[in-house]
Amino acid sequence: MLVAPSILSADFGHLARDVRAICDGGCDLVHVDVMDGHFVPNMTIGPVVVEAVAQAATKPLDIHLMVENNSFFVDLYAPLKPEYISFHIEEEKHPHRLIQKIRALGIRPAITLNPHTPPEAIEFLLEELDMVLLMSVNPGFGGQSFIPSVLERAVRLKELIEGRNPKCLIEVDGGVNDKNIHMLYESGVDVVVAGSYVYKHPHGIKTAINSLKIGS
Ligand code: DX5
Ligand code: ZN
Repeated sequence: MLVAPSILSADFGHLARDVRAICDGGCDLVHVDVMDGHFVPNMTIGPVVVEAVAQAATKPLDIHLMVENNSFFVDLYAPLKPEYISFHIEEEKHPHRLIQKIRALGIRPAITLNPHTPPEAIEFLLEELDMVLLMSVNPGFGGQSFIPSVLERAVRLKELIEGRNPKCLIEVDGGVNDKNIHMLYESGVDVVVAGSYVYKHPHGIKTAINSLKIGS
């Protein structure tokens, strides 16, 4: 299991320190939640701050766009050379075109599905994707409760992926902790995002990350 801590739960007054802490703690990706106050009822950080995150990080960035006008935001973040950019299928009229644009910029394209969106919605895009992000909470805020139906969606997505693009990873985001990590692993999930669990763990960030790195 790869672990991508979300910096949404970091102390933004000490952001560089908190980004270094997850990298030193053994994370695989640094998950960056970009919210615009339109697609979701919350706002986070823009490219100036994400540039500071990129400078502090020693692990690749995983940028999760929760925005309207995805293409505009892809242009803003592409110069930071993230490993992945994911966009929500619910907010994109031309996902195939946007995938091609992201790949042409040298970034791995990923698509995110809200809790109500079935994996079949992106069946005919799977061959073009490097990762699919399944939301296990409604996007917009950290610290929410895990929605268990993501497990069934992961199993269905895995079946589609095995038929069409076995290299495509499955990532799950929201409410992930040491109670649900084994079920996620058994459902075929490759990458987990965890914000509050990692940053607020009573025994520290490294212990939290290690407890999620099962099977690896
Ligand atoms: C929610 C974000 C998540 C969130 C995860 O919109 O996409 O990445 O920060 O936080 P936890 O792990 O606290 O649910
Ligand atoms: Zn996220």
